[in-house]
Amino acid sequence: MEKDFDRGELIRHALEQQKKAYAPYSGYQVAAAVLMDSGKVYTGVNVENASYPAGICAERNAIFHAAACGERRITAIAVVAGLRGENTEYSSPCGICRQVMREFCDPKEMRVILARTPEDYRERTLEELLPESFGPESLPRL
Ligand code: THU
Repeated sequence: MEKDFDRGELIRHALEQQKKAYAPYSGYQVAAAVLMDSGKVYTGVNVENASYPAGICAERNAIFHAAACGERRITAIAVVAGLRGENTEYSSPCGICRQVMREFCDPKEMRVILARTPEDYRERTLEELLPESFGPESLPRL
């Protein structure tokens, strides 16, 4: 069932974290705030590495943070991103992050908020960003 939540507040959580992004190589600072069905919000930022592929996106960092705290169901995620923290675009999650979101939600219900400011954002369902997806129910039961 669709849950109502405060989009602006979730975006503000992400914006507060954005300065903590560790992006010395790309300069592209990303932050995500994920609202779980428990009502709790977990944040994450991108963390790059001198060995480039070892870095991680903000969205996965936030979701893994929530999962490590025992959370299993996502209501929504807000993402903010921009070069040196200037959020001129609506940044859409990469394919790997979309698949990680898929693990912990109903894609028809989960909301992805692509934000520039608390008032200026685009909203999609995960289903729109990742149609005909492969998820936990796709695997045969053992
Ligand atoms: N990045 C994210 O954090 N999330 C995305 O969905 C796309 C890309 C990060 C990874 C890397 O640190 C930087 O943005 C440039 O790709």
